[in-house]
Formats: sequence, C-alpha cells, structure tokens
Amino acid sequence: MMASPYELRISATPDELFRAAAFEFAARAASAVKSHGKFSVALSGGSTPKGLYSLLSTPEFSSVPWDKIGFFWGDERHVPPDHPDSNFRMVNEALLSKVSVRPENVFRIKAEQSDAAAVAVAYEQNIKTFFRLGHGEFPRFDLVLLGTGPDGHTASLFPGTAALEEKSRVFVANWVEKLNAHRFTLTLPAINQAACVAFLVAGPDKAPILAQLLQNKTDEFPAQKVHPVDGKLLWMVDQAAAGALKK
Ligand code: 6PG
Repeated sequence: MMASPYELRISATPDELFRAAAFEFAARAASAVKSHGKFSVALSGGSTPKGLYSLLSTPEFSSVPWDKIGFFWGDERHVPPDHPDSNFRMVNEALLSKVSVRPENVFRIKAEQSDAAAVAVAYEQNIKTFFRLGHGEFPRFDLVLLGTGPDGHTASLFPGTAALEEKSRVFVANWVEKLNAHRFTLTLPAINQAACVAFLVAGPDKAPILAQLLQNKTDEFPAQKVHPVDGKLLWMVDQAAAGALKK
C-alpha cells in the first residue's frame, strides 16, 4: 500500500517538540469544541508524550476546554492503574490530576481485570457508546496521539501480532509474544478513521526507525499502516529523531 501523504514537523529539541504538540492539541481541541461541542482524543502511552502531557497541565494551557474533552487511551498494558507501566497512571499523574476534566469523560481501560478479552470488549463498548456507533461503524476521534518503538510498533500493534489483521473490531486485546503479555489497543481501522493522527517521536534511538518509516515506500512496519482515510497524518519529531532522514 502506498504511503499516505503526511506533514513532517521537526523541532530543534524535545521541549520545543512538546510545545509544538501542545499548541496543536490546544488548537484542535478549540476547533472541535467550536464545531461539534466536544473534543475526543486517544492518548498515547510510553515515555515520549509525558513531556507533552506535563506541559498541557501548566497555566499556559488553561484555556484548553478540559471539561469538554473525552479522554481515551489508544492502548494500555495489562496492569492495574497504579502500576508503574500503566499508561493511565502516567497520563493521570502528568495531566488529568492537574486540570479540570470531567471524571465521567475520562475513559480508563480497566486493565486490572484478568480476562483480557473481556476488558477489550468493555472498552470497545465505551467507545461505541461515546461515539454513538452503529453496527460495523468506527469512531472518528478528533485526535489520535501515537508513538513508535524501535521495532516500528505503534499503539500496541506490534509486528507479527494478530491485532494488525483486525478489520472489524474497534478495540482488542492483543497477545504480544515478545512481551509474554496481552496489550490493549485501538485497531488500524479505528485509528485510520481519525480526523487527525499525530505521531510524536523524540530522541536519537528513534532515528533509524523513523528514517525507515518515512523513507521506505512499503508498509512493512505497523506504524506505516496508519493511513487516515479522511484525516491528517502528522509526524512531529525532534532533530535527534530526524537525524537519519535524507535531506
Ligand atoms: C505504549 C505506547 C507505545 C509507545 C511506543 C514508544 O504503550 O508503550 O503506546 O506505542 O508509543 O512504545 O514508546 P516511548 O515513547 O516510550 O519510546
């Protein structure tokens, strides 16, 4: 499949990357609320976006309409919400506990429950209810934030895993052999319905994979299978991550 058209924005430093991403988040939130009264975002986990979430929690971004935002997670680990690996915990500590969100609009994946398939079914229902989806429909998030690992995974869509082939589900439990664990993740059809998908990539260790993702005209890696059907694809990276890109 041909690569999607995308916009690449390179920031000099991680802090400038987080600032650029925070202003993009704020602008999209304001625009979504103006056009349809709310802003729906699927948050990414891992370590990169922590700087973005922390910045968004500062008074500089107090004008973000926090009470009109539906917060979802693009993926989660199979751990309780107080676990060090929990994406919910990371976002809650960096952002949600510091701004005036409406608790009923924070949709946490109940990843403490042992039955992974049931966790995914329940979360998928949360998404379907929020977006008022009919049978076979997919959510149109205003913004899906993503990262990528050195292996080109995104969300919890890892190379060689079953979720990559999912065509009808919105949200699934995905067995990841190399982690010997289930992960929870939005599926590609769900991600690809978003109005905007923004990858946030920082650091020199991501330079090799970023060059492959953006310059290999294939869809070998999961992150290359993100093709918004009718939405914007944005790569927001710092100079260190962009270091291997051909000029
Ligand atoms: C997760 C993320 C995952 C992340 C990449 C990059 O749960 O880990 O959703 O897809 O974006 O693994 O992680 P870092 O930002 O920590 O490099």
